[in-house]
Amino acid sequence: MNKTFLVTGASAGLGEIFSLLITDIAKNIIIVGRNRNKLNMLKKKIKKINSEIEVIIAITDLSKETGVLKLFKIFEKQKKIKFVDVIVNSAANFTVKKIEEVSMEQLKRDFQLNVISPFLISKYFGFKMKKKNKGLIFNIGSSSSYDCSKNTSIYCSTKHALLGMSKAFNAEWQQKGVKSIFIAPGSMKTAMGRKVKNQDFNTFIEPLEVANTIKNLLNDKKSMFIDEVKIKRKIYK
Ligand SMILES: NC(=O)c1ccc[n+]([C@@H]2O[C@H](COP(=O)([O-])OP(=O)(O)OC[C@H]3O[C@@H](n4cnc5c(N)ncnc54)[C@H](OP(=O)(O)O)[C@@H]3O)[C@@H](O)[C@H]2O)c1
Repeated sequence: MNKTFLVTGASAGLGEIFSLLITDIAKNIIIVGRNRNKLNMLKKKIKKINSEIEVIIAITDLSKETGVLKLFKIFEKQKKIKFVDVIVNSAANFTVKKIEEVSMEQLKRDFQLNVISPFLISKYFGFKMKKKNKGLIFNIGSSSSYDCSKNTSIYCSTKHALLGMSKAFNAEWQQKGVKSIFIAPGSMKTAMGRKVKNQDFNTFIEPLEVANTIKNLLNDKKSMFIDEVKIKRKIYK
């Protein structure tokens, strides 16, 4: 396939598993996160599977606007990759707090990470996609993009907003060849999933199955296009 991927939240969970899954089809992968050690380890793993892949590590905090600008600088500084074919906006934070305990600081931080940064990243790389009339943006939403539960007001608000963002990008850019696909899984067996209280972790979705679903959506169809995928747990307890 020979494509260039940019994956945020690549140091753990779904983003990491997806980055490893595309080693048979990727030419370049830009892996984004804050944890230098984990990203270095991931690069090693990718290279072990396929030594020909160019892996760029971008260490940055996407909960800050300056962190997004840092990502663009890293991209502009390197000269090997000029175009990103596929963006996976996976980085997010899941805050568990009662509404009355929510601070302005936390609200802003999570909105930046879960909504504003994916918007700015999609805008920056998507603009280049639009010029080439091709590109794919995966926005990782959640079941919380549709239904809300107690003590997750920030997360739920951000994931609803991300769904709106994904739809808005399609409204303007889908006809220009830039497609946004919204992936909305239920609870997954990752570090984030561990924060979900009073539910049986063993019944959570395997992130590998979600990553495989995303990979299957990479192949363009002639007459149709999927814009939203809801992924539910088989057993809910
Ligand atoms: N797990 C679930 O139950 C579940 C359910 C539905 C939807 N989702 C969604 O699926 C996506 C992936 O979640 P996951 O379960 O894989 O989460 P995870 O295992 O907790 O991993 C989160 C990733 O986001 C990165 N990240 C967190 N804060 C960041 C920051 N400030 N700046 C840059 N990167 C940051 C982390 O990297 P660093 O620590 O290196 O920064 C890590 O790579 C998210 O969008 C999440 O909302 C998850």
